[in-house]
Amino acid sequence: MKDAVLSELRNADEYLSGQELSVRLGVSRTAVWKAVEKLRREGYTIRSAPNRGYRLEKTALPLCREEILARLPEDFPWQDRILCLDSVDSTNTRLKAMAAQGAPHGSAVIAEQQTSGRGRRGRSFSSPPGMGVYLSVLLRPNCRPEELMHLTCAAAVAVCNAIASVTGLQPGIKWTNDIVLNGKKLVGILTELSLEAESGCVEYAVIGAGINCCQQKSDFPEEIQDIATSLRLAVGKPIDRNAVAAAMLRAMAEMEQHLLTGQAAILADYRQRCITLGKEIALLRGEERRYGTALDVDTQGALLVAFADGHIETVNSGEVSVRGMYGYV
Ligand code: BTN
Repeated sequence: MKDAVLSELRNADEYLSGQELSVRLGVSRTAVWKAVEKLRREGYTIRSAPNRGYRLEKTALPLCREEILARLPEDFPWQDRILCLDSVDSTNTRLKAMAAQGAPHGSAVIAEQQTSGRGRRGRSFSSPPGMGVYLSVLLRPNCRPEELMHLTCAAAVAVCNAIASVTGLQPGIKWTNDIVLNGKKLVGILTELSLEAESGCVEYAVIGAGINCCQQKSDFPEEIQDIATSLRLAVGKPIDRNAVAAAMLRAMAEMEQHLLTGQAAILADYRQRCITLGKEIALLRGEERRYGTALDVDTQGALLVAFADGHIETVNSGEVSVRGMYGYV
């Protein structure tokens, strides 16, 4: 039934009423409604309007492996390692489980929705269907953790490159790795490392990114409506999420090639994009809140902050708010 409803909606240029659909398909309106709900759960964006019916957002095709492969070069090295799911708890969690079972370097999990999307510092990451690209990539760089201190910076630069290649937008990076546009958050990145107990070497790294693609302001949870943005809001037209996913995979593969040898160039790109530099910032650690100016990012990706008393501190972790952004005035 859902395939028949999908086909009718695909062929319609305007709204189709539930009544019209039920007559055309010879089924009840409830059956039509159920099929529409099922399609929505699969990630199709179907608008409904009172007294008009349903309309399929055709540019908003669900994420699907075939569509992503069609947007990648034929010789893309990781094409046999892409898993695209309708729904998953978290792409990072799933990929870590696959890594523990021996999944190879370059494996990727992409999902239409996450039921327990994870953010940094134990936060959740809202991941509804039809809106974003939730994607994780597994790297096995064969090195010591000290050689990967710049990994989060490299991931942030790769995400910016992917977005630029699909949309022409040039996003910025809020240290360490929030991708921002016009002062609002566009992408969240969560990078996780696993070390081998005996050797202390990196067993694997999972880089997960959640890219806001198709949201209108009201699609975001209320508490982040004023601090979040999407590609659609930025470019003012529908976004092909399969193209975004493909661009992300390409950018990650490109980044990985230079990860261990091109650290200086990666950090130079990072500094260029980093909107935190030169700004007044608030450094939050537990209850403590200290104010300073962000000066630079060092060779490890740490933030150098000058405080009012003249001393300079290297900040590796902690929440950094940038004055003028995310409600910090
Ligand atoms: C943050 O902003 O705090 C980081 C958010 C990271 C979200 C992405 S979505 C894909 C991957 N899977 C997850 O559970 N989290 C990351």
